[in-house]
Amino acid sequence: MKFNCKDIENRVNIPKHIAIIMDGNGRWAKKRLLPRVAGHVRGVKRVKEIVEYCAKIGVTYLTLFAFGRENWRRPADEVTFLMKLLYEQLDKEFIKLHEQGVKIRFIGDKSRLRPEIRDKIIKLETITINNTRLNLNIALDYSGTYDITQAVNKILAQKITSITEEDFSKYLLTYPDVEPELLIRTGGESRLSNFMLWQVAYSECYFTNTFWPDFKIKDLDLAIKWFNTKERRFGMISEQLE
Ligand code: FPP
Repeated sequence: MKFNCKDIENRVNIPKHIAIIMDGNGRWAKKRLLPRVAGHVRGVKRVKEIVEYCAKIGVTYLTLFAFGRENWRRPADEVTFLMKLLYEQLDKEFIKLHEQGVKIRFIGDKSRLRPEIRDKIIKLETITINNTRLNLNIALDYSGTYDITQAVNKILAQKITSITEEDFSKYLLTYPDVEPELLIRTGGESRLSNFMLWQVAYSECYFTNTFWPDFKIKDLDLAIKWFNTKERRFGMISEQLE
């Protein structure tokens, strides 16, 4: 069931920040006797739909785990295919998102990407910087431990010897975004796979067996409805929230 405007305005609490681990592309393809990469191609279709829908229903931040630092360990031809797929999207689909007012940022280690991908990414970040409709983070060559380590290195470079938790978060790659209220992982696994470790400290974590290429708008609606059933206590007790 899709949300209508009344739902959004009056009853449904739309998470400000949704983070998604898009898992299950390979298994989706295998089930259909297709090569793994066919799952990634179908996965891109879902990325487009979900991004546009999030912009429509008023999600402020959306972070998608597109390629983890550990994913370089995959067979070389799959890595090459994924990078080519991303490169093609940068030209076509991401420009369309820019036209729809989406601000796009790539979080991760840009130094290991092919120069032509890095250049395009930086260009896209630059041209979308003043967009205000949806803040889309694409995690590319990203991991949570990398994020924390690069934050520590920035802090050390400034010769800071002591820091608060609040100030520490300012050095993370996701700054200044609010932390994800809802983390979704598709594909049946219930682990974080080194994604946004600091930022998900209090996220509601929704694990679904649905493979990413099958994850449609109705599935996101279900996740948001599930999120709406959660009482977010942040260490307190129910009575304190009344
Ligand atoms: C995990 O499925 C998925 C990935 C490692 C890549 C995700 C990439 C996309 C959805 C497409 C490109 C994204 C953008 C933003 C253009 P898996 O291959 O690990 O699946 P498996 O667990 O079934 O093997």
